[in-house]
Amino acid sequence: MRGSGCVPQWLSPGEDCNLQRRIFGGKTTSAMPRKVVHLIAAARPNFMKVAPLYHALKSTDWCDPQIVHTGQHYDFNMSDAFFRDLGLPAPAFHLGVGSGSHAEQTGGVMIAYEKVCNSNRPDWIVVVGDVNSTAACAMVGTKLWIPVVHLEAGLRSGDRRMPEEINRLVTDSIVDVLWTPSADANENLLREGIAAHKIDLIGNIMIDSFELLRDRIESSTSRQDLGLLDREYALLTLHRPSNVDRPDSLRAIVTALKMIAADLRLVFVSHPRTMKNLAAFKLSGELTQTGNVDLLSPLSYIDFMNVVTGARLVITDSGGLQEETTYLGIPCLTMRENTERPVTVTQGTNKLVGASELPEQVRKILDGKWRKGSCPPLWDGRTAGRAVRCLEKRALRQAE
Ligand code: UD1
Repeated sequence: MRGSGCVPQWLSPGEDCNLQRRIFGGKTTSAMPRKVVHLIAAARPNFMKVAPLYHALKSTDWCDPQIVHTGQHYDFNMSDAFFRDLGLPAPAFHLGVGSGSHAEQTGGVMIAYEKVCNSNRPDWIVVVGDVNSTAACAMVGTKLWIPVVHLEAGLRSGDRRMPEEINRLVTDSIVDVLWTPSADANENLLREGIAAHKIDLIGNIMIDSFELLRDRIESSTSRQDLGLLDREYALLTLHRPSNVDRPDSLRAIVTALKMIAADLRLVFVSHPRTMKNLAAFKLSGELTQTGNVDLLSPLSYIDFMNVVTGARLVITDSGGLQEETTYLGIPCLTMRENTERPVTVTQGTNKLVGASELPEQVRKILDGKWRKGSCPPLWDGRTAGRAVRCLEKRALRQAE
């Protein structure tokens, strides 16, 4: 491990060495010239996956990780607040793509990122998750013959109506290396004909972010500031177009939430698109009138996770929260017809529900009729270390 410059900004002096050794697997020695690795960060759920990998790569003597922010998410609380909490430096490149239709966003990222690659060609590109920027940058890299790694590969909902499923299929079919979070992802890839030698089962990297910041999450005053009592509220997040873009779907959810709010305080941390649609469909007032619903703007990572850890239950349509609640053993109701993270249902604390069954399922949880669940293998806070070792091996092989 190199000098103090390699210590992640989120660790205080003293706790750095042991923690880093534990998480990142100690020092690496290599005769390789430094490899430039672009880490593509685009939208909120990407940042907590990129951060542990950035810090782990930075702590080696063979790698120069550089963050490329595509600008898909741009509000302070959807982006900068996460960079601050996760100790990430300002991006080396910012593409500033912003919002737009799927084609506009995907095409905009491709045009901008191709220019970056042509002027500052990296040795490797790591794309994460399943957002439009993931598929866009994977296509750019592959066409320029730059090796691309997909972090969080192999997840499948089987539902091609979801843009994220298309992004996953496109990305996984063209990249050179696939880093999977769980065994079911390996099975999906092998079934699709991906060669086994391209796949590394490394675990769930989001858990690394949680464990690295656990102390700061636990000492955040976010719950206290909101006047929340432990296990006496439900946390709610919604942003999927299928739930929030049509007035009838969003109204059905609001009706169910009002019933739940009669018994349980609801903390609704709302995505900007959901906030806009609640106002446009004249549903915000209806929801908050109950007096038992807090409708909040997005929170930073540390403050948000502080609220998650104290919740009696979580209601969501997010991918990441299904995993975080399984890890923390908190009951989770996912408002979707399917999930690309089935292990959270079969092994964890998650259940898929529609709006009409939501009040009944919440009642079951409040009555203590919910399984405890268990944590899938390799969701242990050490995934970034495994990723670095895998990349180093592949980079060495490439150099031979
Ligand atoms: C994107 C991802 C989704 C992920 C989600 C997490 C795709 C296809 N979707 O969806 O997989 O779960 O991020 O949040 O890539 N907006 C703002 N400020 C922002 C960002 C967005 O106001 O910082 C608003 C804009 O009106 C924008 C809308 O939200 O049009 C949707 O943003 P977009 O990035 O297109 O998709 P998400 O719904 O966030």
